[in-house]
Amino acid sequence: LASMPLDRRGRPLRDLRLSVIEACNFRCPYCMPADRVPDDYGFDAASRLDFDEIETLVRGFVSLGVSKLRLTGGEPLLRKRLPTLIERLASIDGLEDIALTTNGSLLAPQARALREAGLGRITVSLDALDPDRFHQMSGGRGEVADVLAGIEAAQAAGFGSLKLNCVVERGINEDQVLPLVEHFRGSGHVVRFIEYMDVGTCNGWVRERVVPSTELRDRIAARWPIRPLEAQYRGEVASRYAFEDGQGEVGFVSSVSEPFCGDCHRARVSADGRLYTCLFAADGHDLRPALSQGQDVLRERVASVWSGRVDRYSEVRGAATASRRHVEMYLIGG
Ligand code: GTP
Ligand code: 5AD
Ligand code: SF4
Ligand code: SF4
Repeated sequence: LASMPLDRRGRPLRDLRLSVIEACNFRCPYCMPADRVPDDYGFDAASRLDFDEIETLVRGFVSLGVSKLRLTGGEPLLRKRLPTLIERLASIDGLEDIALTTNGSLLAPQARALREAGLGRITVSLDALDPDRFHQMSGGRGEVADVLAGIEAAQAAGFGSLKLNCVVERGINEDQVLPLVEHFRGSGHVVRFIEYMDVGTCNGWVRERVVPSTELRDRIAARWPIRPLEAQYRGEVASRYAFEDGQGEVGFVSSVSEPFCGDCHRARVSADGRLYTCLFAADGHDLRPALSQGQDVLRERVASVWSGRVDRYSEVRGAATASRRHVEMYLIGG
């Protein structure tokens, strides 16, 4: 193998997060507010990489050392024939882990087919347990009952333990934190609380709406004693805590209060084939011209972009030099 590139800060490329579709059936205000992205926004299916292109792309990344793939959106379960794609990707040698991030609303009818296709893990976004609060958090589009049914169907289909991601906004859904913990403690699923981030340009982010993880951790610990767990691998995004009474664990993703750029080994590719080297990048690198020339040219192009990477946005957030223009979250899936 020619090269496993390091970026300019010595970070290897390990994970690929690939969006298969930019459309979504939700309009979460922190990601895709309905007044900025209306129902008739005009997403263009023709701009998306097809399955042949995606397979070539993933093979190229794997040849550079990537062993983890996460499929994202928008909402990836809106992509037609997704299990067929997963089956093709699951056959790639060297790809050890294929995961999916979904809002869960369409999961129940698809869980079994996803499992049979070779999907390894599922993460479901779940911002509230209360039906009204959930409906509000989804921009008036989602029903929490569908998502809970999706979680159960995934477990029944053999996915076992799921990660459940909850973005917490002060004064909006922070009252859902303890109910979520209470509901899922002992279920085998792991709830993770994510600090509200200034991704994209249309969510009206203000720092006052961020609830620092330390605050949530203290609130949870006051009710159910917890102790910190060791990271499972270098650069793990969430910090993990176990319940002292053996009822499982909770996690916290603290990219505002405790940035983790130092170990960041994630590349993101949008559904239309642009490579973003940071969640907060302003622009992507169009991979299509290289992709059309095959896996080896693609591989050299990615290696060259990665070698020049200097991103560490969360560590410089607020600095005068930090870009204020960020790719929209629904284009790269978080
Ligand atoms: P696995 O380790 O594959 O299980 O996934 P993960 O722990 O990375 O979790 P996941 O992919 O579900 O990420 C959780 C959330 O953390 C994402 O939805 C993002 O909101 C945030 N996140 C993930 N990676 C990054 C990153 O590189 N930078 C920042 N700032 N946030 C991230
Ligand atoms: N801040 C934090 N997390 C976000 N996500 C989307 N937008 C934001 C934001 N502004 C999360 C979703 C989902 C994942 C795809 O990214 O909740 O779990
Ligand atoms: Fe859709 Fe996920 Fe964005 Fe919500 S966070 S609007 S579910 S892509
Ligand atoms: Fe990686 Fe950018 Fe997130 Fe830092 S802010 S951890 S560089 S994606």
